[in-house]
Amino acid sequence: MRTTVGIVGAGPAGLLLARLLHNAGIDSVVLESHDRAYVEQRQRAGILEQGTADVLRAAGAADRMDREGLRHDGIELRFSGRRHRVDFPALTGGRSVTVYAQTEVCKDLIALRLADGAPLLFEAEALAVEDADTDRPRVRFRHRGVEDVLECDYVVGCDGFWGIARRAVPAAAARVFERTYPFGWLGILADVPPSHDELVYARHDRGFALLSMRSPAVSRLYLQVPEGTEAQAWGDEEIWDELERRFATDDDWKLERGPITQKSVTPMRSWVHEPMRHGRLFLAGDAAHIVPPTGAKGLNLAVGDVVTFARALTHLRDTGSAALLDAYSETCLRRVWQAERFSYDMTTLLHPAPGATPFEDRLQLARLERIVSSRAAETDLAEAYTGFPFG
Ligand code: FAD
Ligand code: DHB
Repeated sequence: MRTTVGIVGAGPAGLLLARLLHNAGIDSVVLESHDRAYVEQRQRAGILEQGTADVLRAAGAADRMDREGLRHDGIELRFSGRRHRVDFPALTGGRSVTVYAQTEVCKDLIALRLADGAPLLFEAEALAVEDADTDRPRVRFRHRGVEDVLECDYVVGCDGFWGIARRAVPAAAARVFERTYPFGWLGILADVPPSHDELVYARHDRGFALLSMRSPAVSRLYLQVPEGTEAQAWGDEEIWDELERRFATDDDWKLERGPITQKSVTPMRSWVHEPMRHGRLFLAGDAAHIVPPTGAKGLNLAVGDVVTFARALTHLRDTGSAALLDAYSETCLRRVWQAERFSYDMTTLLHPAPGATPFEDRLQLARLERIVSSRAAETDLAEAYTGFPFG
């Protein structure tokens, strides 16, 4: 099999890249190791930055998002029993975010790809990227038990943190930056209308809690739990009791309970692989960087990477200049490190670390006080949360 761009992985990065290239008249083949149902049902991100929503619109992939997505103009910070709303449009010159689940973004992009009749192979596991430093990189893969080779002009590794594409970068050419955290998030989906109309980020001495949503009828909630916690170790009532304690306010706000339909634990990690390019292999999304989820940045970063790649390749085709493609890693990493910084700041702001000293607890509260009492500090948060324009 032969194509211009071989795309490894059909998460949001791979699927959107395939769409952007298709719109630009560049052919690609997407290889995905799992089946379609897995990609369409794996619960992960829920918040799209303004720029991500705009990219999906420009790509003709936002009809359902515009009908069913929820525009959010702010978030609530909650600590010491108090509530503070951060008003995004007022602080950022009109920017907002959209609540629309990653599962739905993937469903929409898969449907468009299949309607276009363009190649998207499920149950096609990439085994290795070869000859990345030549003009003819290849992806060896196994599709439903049969081994095959995809010959390409370029390969983009969109295969997530556990993928294989970046193994083609020699160790001597790569550098990894990492930070782990001694806690994770227990996430639940529940069939109950969200107890607040915007997201609530709560800092409590017992740990962080987040109230989010998937629709006006489905809540998504998270609890900080110790590293290594098993989701099944928590009973349903125990989860609601703990959420209630962490969200408690001085006023009459109330957390509504409902049937829990899904439970899982997500570890927390900050991680960057530099550079994001080796020869004709380009890395995008979680294959190149991970942020802890507190700032809701992971999917949005993946979108920034593939927009940058598609633009650069189109520029090369239209002008003959490889300048943008050569700058790919540097361009993406500028944005990546800003998201790493913001996600680290939000995580350390809101999660009491096990073994934190009373001094550190007080500092955390002082940082929160600063945000809610200074327009400059609040603006800094609002600008980063709604996202910087794609570079
Ligand atoms: P992935 O979604 O990991 O996709 C990679 C794909 O590659 C997978 O489908 C995988 O099956 C496939 N693959 C792997 N190996 C191979 C192989 N060898 N061959 C072929 N295919 C392969 N981000 C936000 O922006 N906002 C949020 O609100 C947010 N909340 C989050 C909440 C949680 C609980 C978690 C866990 C994450 C959250 N994120 C959020 C992060 C976001 O989900 C990820 O950053 C995003 O999925 C990255 O997309 P991706 O396409 O790069 O990688
Ligand atoms: C969601 C996840 C996040 O990491 C976040 O910061 C906000 C919302 C969510 O899954 O809805």
